[in-house]
Amino acid sequence: MKIYLKTFGCQMNEYDSEIIKSILSENGFSFADNEMDADVILLNTCAVRENAQRKVFGLIHDIRHRRGGRPAIYGVLGCIATYLKEGLLENKNLNIDLIVGPDSYRRLPQIINECLLSHQSPVTSHQKKTHDITLNEFEMYSDITPLRDGGNPAASPQVDVSLSRNINAWIAVMRGCNNFCTFCVVPYTRGRERSRSPQDIVKEAKKAAEEGMKQVTLLGQNVNSYRFEDAGFSDLLEAVSQVEGIERIRFISPHPKDFPLKLLETMAKNKKVCKHIHFPLQSGNNRILELMNRTYTKERFLELVEKMKKMIPEIVITTDIIVGFPTETDDEFEDTVDVMKQVAFDSAFIFKYSERKGTMAAKKFKDDVPQEKKKDRIIKLNTLQKEISLKKNEAHIGQVHDVLIEQKGTSRSANAFQGRNDGNKIVILPEGSFCVGQIIPVKITSATPHVLRGQPVEK
Ligand code: 5AD
Ligand code: SF4
Repeated sequence: MKIYLKTFGCQMNEYDSEIIKSILSENGFSFADNEMDADVILLNTCAVRENAQRKVFGLIHDIRHRRGGRPAIYGVLGCIATYLKEGLLENKNLNIDLIVGPDSYRRLPQIINECLLSHQSPVTSHQKKTHDITLNEFEMYSDITPLRDGGNPAASPQVDVSLSRNINAWIAVMRGCNNFCTFCVVPYTRGRERSRSPQDIVKEAKKAAEEGMKQVTLLGQNVNSYRFEDAGFSDLLEAVSQVEGIERIRFISPHPKDFPLKLLETMAKNKKVCKHIHFPLQSGNNRILELMNRTYTKERFLELVEKMKKMIPEIVITTDIIVGFPTETDDEFEDTVDVMKQVAFDSAFIFKYSERKGTMAAKKFKDDVPQEKKKDRIIKLNTLQKEISLKKNEAHIGQVHDVLIEQKGTSRSANAFQGRNDGNKIVILPEGSFCVGQIIPVKITSATPHVLRGQPVEK
C-alpha cells in the first residue's frame, strides 16, 4: 500500500510528518512521490488561519478531480483534525475517511488498515470512517527516529536533487502550548505544553549528525518555557552544542513575555548557536496586546530588542504580525508601524487576523475590522518591511559571512548554489563548485530585500 503525505503549516508539522513517515514505514507502508500513484492520501494540516484550511480542502477536491474517480483513502492529520473534529468526517462534500490528531500518530497504521479493510470488504454497506483526535499530554514520540528524507531543497526544476541533500534536522524539544493567546488555535489543536528530556534531544541530534546533518533547529511553541527537571532552554542549547558534527543550532520560537537574559548570554558566547531570533511582536499597541493576552507591552518588547542588539550586535531579528485584530483602530495600527520602524526587523511575516472558532477572541469579539482595511494595513506594513529589509541587507555588502551551502540550483539558475548565513539569510553564489553541507566564507557583493549574493573568499 502506497502513501502520499503532504505537509502544510509550520516546521513542527514538517517534523511531525517525519515522525509519521517513520511510524508508517516501520509498519510496512511505502510512499508515493505523487498523489496519482498512491492508495492512501494523507494531508498533515494547519488550522492557524482560515486560508490554511481553505488550501487543504481545495487540494482534496483537486486530487479527487485529477484522479478521475480512482478510489483512495483520504486522511486529514494534524491541526485541522483536532480543530474541526468529527464534523470533518460528516462533511459529505469532502468525503474524508480518517482524521488523526497530532498526539495519535502511533495509531495511524491501525486506523489506515481499518479503513482499507472496510473499503475492500464487499459486505460493508458503507465504508467505515475512523478517527483519533485525543490529545495526550505525555506524548513526545521520543522513541521514534524521524525519517528525515531531505524535504529541504526547494522543489524547483532548476534544483539539482542529486547534488542537494537535507542538511537541517528539525527536532521538537517541546510540544503543545499553554499561552492561550486569544487569537490562536494551537493550545486547542496541540494540547498542553510538555518538554522532552535533554538526553533524548541530544541523542536525536547525535543521530542527525551521524546521518550527515550539519544543522539542527529546535522547535517549540514557546522555547523559553522549555523546562525539564533542572534544565532550562539555555542549558539545552549548551548540551546540543556539544554534539560533534552539528555546526549550527537554530531555534523557533521564543515568546517576548519571558525572554531570559541567560539565553542571550548563551547565544552571545556559543559559536554554534546562530545569531537569529524570531521574535513575534503580533501588535505594537498595548491595548491590542492585552486583548491578545500577549502579557507584554510595546515598551517591554522594545527594551528586550535593545538588549539583544547590545549583547549581540550582529543579531538578526524577524517577527510575526497580525493586522486587523478585532477593534484595532487606525491609530492603534500606527503603533505597530512605529515599532517596526524602531526595531527594523530583518524580515516579517504579516497576517490578516483570521477568526478561529473556539478561541477567546472569537468568543469575545466580533471580527469587526473590514477586509479592505486589513488589506490596506497589510500592504502598508509589507511595503515598509521591504524597504527596511533592503536597507538591512545592503548593509552587509562588503562583509564576509560564513555560508552553509544547502542546494545546487536556484529558481533562476541551475548552476548557482544557495546557502544561508548565520542570521538565516539566503545567500546565492552565482557560480563555482561547492558541496552541499560545506560552510564557506563568502564576501557579500549585492543584496535584494530577500537575498544576498556573494563570492567565496579565502579564509
Ligand atoms: N489570525 C491571523 N494570524 C494568526 N497567527 C496565529 N493565529 C492567527 C490568527 N487567528 C499568526 C501569528 C503567529 C503565526 C504562526 O501565525 O502571527 O505567530
Ligand atoms: Fe503549526 Fe499552529 Fe498551524 Fe498547527 S496550527 S500546523 S501548530 S502553525
